[in-house]
Amino acid sequence: MKTTASFMKMKEVKEKITMMTAYDAPGARLVEEAGIDMILVGDSLGMVVLGYDSTVPVTMDDMILHTKAARRGAQNTFIVADMPFLTYHSSLDDTFHHARRLLQEGGANAVKLEGAKDVIETVRKLTTAGVPVMGHLGLTPQSVGVLGGYRVQGKDATSAKELLEDAKALESAGAFAIVVECVPEQVGAMLSAACDIPIIGIGAGVDTDGQVLVYHDVIGYGNVHVPKFVKSYTSVSPVIQKALKTYVHEVKQGQFPAKEHSFTMSDEALMQLYG
Ligand code: KIV
Ligand code: NA
Repeated sequence: MKTTASFMKMKEVKEKITMMTAYDAPGARLVEEAGIDMILVGDSLGMVVLGYDSTVPVTMDDMILHTKAARRGAQNTFIVADMPFLTYHSSLDDTFHHARRLLQEGGANAVKLEGAKDVIETVRKLTTAGVPVMGHLGLTPQSVGVLGGYRVQGKDATSAKELLEDAKALESAGAFAIVVECVPEQVGAMLSAACDIPIIGIGAGVDTDGQVLVYHDVIGYGNVHVPKFVKSYTSVSPVIQKALKTYVHEVKQGQFPAKEHSFTMSDEALMQLYG
């Protein structure tokens, strides 16, 4: 299995890092078989799987359940699990308790948390205690209520400089990588050049050290709003819909199950049954 050191090495030799979300065993298995470097059990779970309209309602128990499932499907891939909304802000005891659950119960290799400033000290404490931490800057969806919507971040010089300071602070606090979401490509490039740790972009241009996307977006599964920075490589929803409709039709028509799907009694048993 790859480790935090592998990702550092990949940055050094300029090999792009691929990351994708997974939330259940079959999805994680496909992602692992595709050769993805790192799986994210993201709290995007709330939107793409659980049907919420943001990541805010996602709980620690949700994260544990889905991290365990992803781990069963992908036993040989480095898994990062998101710390959900308000699980790393109140007290250090509380934060440690949640991180421990994701690693010990969930089977994750690392945790990811959003923001800088107030969480820098938390990141330092976690990494000092042996918990690998991935940062998340730029558009931080757990703060959607404060940000006032999902918008591009770091568009002016002041906010771009602030992102740079935040990234350096996360690096100094011991983060092993940082996800940077929805920023101008120039900011993605600047952060990647300025940091020694890998910058994994989503909507951050092509010059970051790696890319991350949401599984459901990549395969075109579900009815989710797909932002500009996402590429859907296929669209499985119509394929699924066609199969489901055919099933309905065949059952209604008495075409399914056919002989080949059915079990039979022996003639002898039939005779005994009806006398
Ligand atoms: O929850 C998630 O899927 C994420 C990625 C978009 C980086 O945090
Ligand atoms: Na997330």
